[in-house]
Amino acid sequence: MYRTHNCGELRAQHIGQEVKLSGWVQISRDFGGMTFLDLRDRYGITQLVFNMEDDAALCEKARKLGREFVISTTGLVRERSAKNPNRPTGDIEIQVTKLEVLNASKVPPFTIEDDTDGGDDLRMKYRYLDIRRNPVKESLIFRSHVAIETRKYLAGEGFVEVETPNLIKSTPEGARDFVVPSRMNPGQFYALPQSPQTFKQILMVAGMDKYFQIVKCFRDEDLRADRQPEFTQIDCEMAFVTREDILRTFEGLTKHLFKTVLNIEMSDFPRMSYDEAMQRYGSDKPDVRFGMEFCELNDVAQGKGFGVFDNAELVVGICAEGQAEHFSNKDIKELTEWMQRPQIGAKGLVWIKVNSDPNDESGRFRSSVSKFYSEDDLALFAQKMGAKPGDMMLVLSGEAEKTRKQLNELRLEMGRRMGLMKPGEFKPLWVVNFPLLEWDEDAKRFFAMHHPFTSPLPEDAEKMMSGDHETLKNLRANAYDLVINGVEIGGGSIRIHDRSLQEKNFNLLGFTPEQAEYQFGFLLGAFEYGAPPHGGIAFGFDRLCAVMRGQTSIRDFIAFPKNNMGRDMMIDAPSEIDEAQLKELSLAVTVEKVKV
Ligand code: AMO
Repeated sequence: MYRTHNCGELRAQHIGQEVKLSGWVQISRDFGGMTFLDLRDRYGITQLVFNMEDDAALCEKARKLGREFVISTTGLVRERSAKNPNRPTGDIEIQVTKLEVLNASKVPPFTIEDDTDGGDDLRMKYRYLDIRRNPVKESLIFRSHVAIETRKYLAGEGFVEVETPNLIKSTPEGARDFVVPSRMNPGQFYALPQSPQTFKQILMVAGMDKYFQIVKCFRDEDLRADRQPEFTQIDCEMAFVTREDILRTFEGLTKHLFKTVLNIEMSDFPRMSYDEAMQRYGSDKPDVRFGMEFCELNDVAQGKGFGVFDNAELVVGICAEGQAEHFSNKDIKELTEWMQRPQIGAKGLVWIKVNSDPNDESGRFRSSVSKFYSEDDLALFAQKMGAKPGDMMLVLSGEAEKTRKQLNELRLEMGRRMGLMKPGEFKPLWVVNFPLLEWDEDAKRFFAMHHPFTSPLPEDAEKMMSGDHETLKNLRANAYDLVINGVEIGGGSIRIHDRSLQEKNFNLLGFTPEQAEYQFGFLLGAFEYGAPPHGGIAFGFDRLCAVMRGQTSIRDFIAFPKNNMGRDMMIDAPSEIDEAQLKELSLAVTVEKVKV
């Protein structure tokens, strides 16, 4: 009734056919005797033509159509005199004979084009208009494609898709829970899952063997471009497996997705230990699309009278190839200020440029620290860092961990400025052997680096039961992350499946036996009924989609995302609820108390 073809379908071979198309008016152009109109639907855009000479009334009707009106038209496909090679339907146009307005539209609050003039909140408020735009529409279609291929691959590997509940008890994964009051159990709350972690482990005890789920997770944490309060994971768990089995399976999934969705063949993923990643890149999710690796310089930098370096635990630098001439003193000053912003917190930035001309009268080097270092001293820096004429060395110093993190930021910024993060290039790697526990000096307690169900490496299990504080700090987890282009795509681990080891871990994490029983009695109990060795992983599905499309923000891969304040701008949530509802949920009293 509404269409014989869609708006992206017609080609030269259809010339002469009568067709019926329906869609939205993208734009209309009036040239007196002729009116041209672009008709859009999900599949594309087709040009419609109305000719005053053929049918004046119809032409008048077409002129009155505004942007985003919904129309249905019948007409003849004919060859375009001025073809548009940038459009798949650019060879043809429709000479319209019938026009029906199916619905009018108000003038949209922003332009529905690839580059829109709408700000983020406005676009989110009118998300139904935003999704009509190609970039958002295509991101959602892309996401659907990735989801379908994920299901195909995992089903092919024998995985079973199981749904786990959304109203659960809190699972500590490091973020705050969203909670839901229970009407039938006054004063008690459910938590929305930060992940289905405990359920998937229970499914392994239940003998499901290979589980997966494309599942919503909820975390009440500060939001960023790559973080939403509700997001989606490809969540998996396998029984009777070692780390190798899991890495092989999910490397296989990743390769399958890149091949089927992007037609990109990926070679085998390299592995890097956490310690090595921190030492070489200052990050547990290094972007290995480019080098600029860290070079530790204590031996050449210390003992020359430069107090800042002499008193530092670590002096470490990177060499920016060919940048000596590209960075003026003003640029370096600006870069230094960028590094000194509170978000990064560097105290300063030392630079050493190797002159492009080795016979430069001013010497081989120019540097912010030439007062303290002779040419020969600086030559040692250059030798260690492999710096050639025209290169610029950038050096930071201070407490080791902090300095590495700061230099990581500088390395990434230099990578961006130097255009080293090439679109269309994908560099995955597995980061393995994370620390099991992190000591928090302020709280004076250990935190789980991944989560409390992660097992230590087999060779560290014994030490975990009996080790002293220093030994515990150095325990390594049987945990792994998949990183692509510097983004943490997924993380997982081999789990503890033994009640006593799990109890010990809870104990190290500061749980009393009663607290552990109260929160996780069900899991500890399950471990007593034949829990198989098991492990798993979860990919951040939104992030995977964004990285595959070369984007840094996950928002456009989520149909209805929230803004940075966690608000859904379209439905205006969260919102207040009325007194009666509060009372029913036994919350009225609590609210009154807060008011006092
Ligand atoms: P983890 O907490 O590392 O592991 O989460 C897995 C992956 O989920 C993605 N992710 C997010 N994506 C968008 N917005 C967020 N707020 C957000 N938080 C996390 C990341 C991350 O790598 N249960 C364990 C997995 C396991 O051990 O099997 C877990 O949830 O890409």
